[in-house]
Amino acid sequence: MTRDIRTVGVVGLGTMGAGIAEVFARSGAAVIGVEVSPEAAAHARGVVEASTERAVARGKLTEAERAELLGRVEVVTELDRLAAADLVVEAVPEHLDLKREIFGKLDSICGPDAILATNTSSLSVTELSVATQNPRRVVGLHFFNPAPVQGFMEVVRTVVTEDAVVDDVVALAEGLGKTAVVVGDKAGFIANALLFGYLNHAVSMYEQRYASREDIDAAMRFGCGLPMGPLALMDLIGLDTAYEILDSMYRQGRDRLHAPSPIIKQMVTAGLKGRKSGRGFYTYAEPGSSTVVADDLTPAAAGAAGGDLRPVASVGVVGSGTMATGIVEVFAKSGYDVTFVARGQDKVDRVVAALTKSLDRAVAKGKLDAAARDAALGRVTGATDVTALAGADLVVEAVVEDLAVKRALFTRLDEICKPGAILATTTSSLPVVECAAVTGRARDVVGMHFFNPAPIMKLVEVVSTVSTGADVAATVTDLCRRIGKHPVACGDRAGFIVNALLFPYLNDAVRMLAAHYATADDIDVAMKKGCGYPMGPFELLDVVGLDVSLAIERTLYSEFREPGFAPTPLLEHLVTAGYLGRKTGRGFRTYD
Ligand SMILES: NC(=O)c1ccc[n+]([C@@H]2O[C@H](COP(=O)([O-])OP(=O)(O)OC[C@H]3O[C@@H](n4cnc5c(N)ncnc54)[C@H](O)[C@@H]3O)[C@@H](O)[C@H]2O)c1
Repeated sequence: MTRDIRTVGVVGLGTMGAGIAEVFARSGAAVIGVEVSPEAAAHARGVVEASTERAVARGKLTEAERAELLGRVEVVTELDRLAAADLVVEAVPEHLDLKREIFGKLDSICGPDAILATNTSSLSVTELSVATQNPRRVVGLHFFNPAPVQGFMEVVRTVVTEDAVVDDVVALAEGLGKTAVVVGDKAGFIANALLFGYLNHAVSMYEQRYASREDIDAAMRFGCGLPMGPLALMDLIGLDTAYEILDSMYRQGRDRLHAPSPIIKQMVTAGLKGRKSGRGFYTYAEPGSSTVVADDLTPAAAGAAGGDLRPVASVGVVGSGTMATGIVEVFAKSGYDVTFVARGQDKVDRVVAALTKSLDRAVAKGKLDAAARDAALGRVTGATDVTALAGADLVVEAVVEDLAVKRALFTRLDEICKPGAILATTTSSLPVVECAAVTGRARDVVGMHFFNPAPIMKLVEVVSTVSTGADVAATVTDLCRRIGKHPVACGDRAGFIVNALLFPYLNDAVRMLAAHYATADDIDVAMKKGCGYPMGPFELLDVVGLDVSLAIERTLYSEFREPGFAPTPLLEHLVTAGYLGRKTGRGFRTYD
């Protein structure tokens, strides 16, 4: 028997509850919201009014539909009013005692067939359910933020939840246009268990001043295509809520990576809770606003902090692989004379052919005109000996990821490059300082970590070692902007910003799969639909290559000695078996 859910109760209309109320009202259900005070009730109603007004402005709702929708939402302060509800979704703050108290009351207020659901992100649904006389009707219904936008839901079944309750809730979720995945009752479920370790890690990077908030956020947006940076997302989630989620995940799993970074608690105590209080990692125009305004931490406008920049007119690139070819293209298209060095004329010819093909493609797509293509090609010279780089103002090295090879190259560059030339490495995982140390000009050595494909990906991590000159970092940063890239500044430690944040998350996903908590498909769907990621972790691992991923994870583990960074045995086994991802036709998935 499928329940007919016409009246839905929502308890707590804050960040999540107001959105949840809107979602149900949009679907035609009558919604009774319950808040703590008349002021909170009025505020909640205002939030729904403003959100639906924006939907009208965007053409997603008509004025008449909005009026009807608002007519279906009532916000009251008495929990007893939920006697009429077929389903109640609890969305009060993430405190076990508070939620248990509410479930105990709901149990006696609601009819025997009503479903009692919690929107908790991390507390045990089982513990909440046993606050009622009939735990079989209690289920987790975990919406994602913002609820009206995210098309995904985790339905959490405890060991006692009745099958019919789970089925009804899944059918309901689908009726709301959301993809539902049913999971067991484990802290963080799928998405938060993977998301919050990453968010906490990003916060600790910020707390350690490894990189600025803007750079951490830009790195994940431009380097991984995420819809928001982690610190902006913390502000959206709410720092108080994020703290409670991390804290309860830590208490359940004792994973150090979930122990909330100390600064989160400090910020919450100081009232900096994120968007809802008008200030968190960023400052907003007003409480509840999504508009970021400048504050003391806002960096000076680009260029203003430049100081003495070194002139860069001619660029040298060493290497003939994918990255080197892409980097040659980027500089040539931006008007720089580029000399690249490859080991042999055949490799020189191959780079020129690849470059020509790429530029031709850009012309065919209408992104470049034929004259610009010809001019770019005219600026490129191939050579087979590094002495061709004697006059370059900047040399970017993109040879094989092997420290001995790179060190030998830097020794040679030190001999032949002119004084004042900047020597950059594109290494993704080796210490830049190892390259600097073999030269007599460590001040001039810097990391320029481009992303693949270089002509498309906007991000460049500008890595300063302990020896890099400030003018060198400033020159490279300025240059990145001139070639249409988004530079972010960071120090010389394993993984820089992006890989250090990305790979532990991927590793966590593999661990979750190995523990049989969810399937690779469900995990991928959760991250894509729940968090708006362009790819799920297993799709991404198969694209990056499992061997490459394992090597990066090993580097991170040996640098930070963090137990949670230790590569999951399942990944090691797949690599040993030769299942390296798309390139071998099989990784986490099998390809034709
Ligand atoms: N913020 C997110 O991104 C997110 C996403 C998914 C799930 N969740 C979960 O949703 C729940 C709510 O989180 P939030 O971020 O919306 O919190 P919030 O602090 O923004 O809102 C909580 C609301 O509950 C109200 N409230 C408090 N006590 C109440 C009571 N006794 N009766 C009725 N209302 C009461 C408060 O006035 C407030 O409006 C938590 O369990 C959280 O883990 C949050």
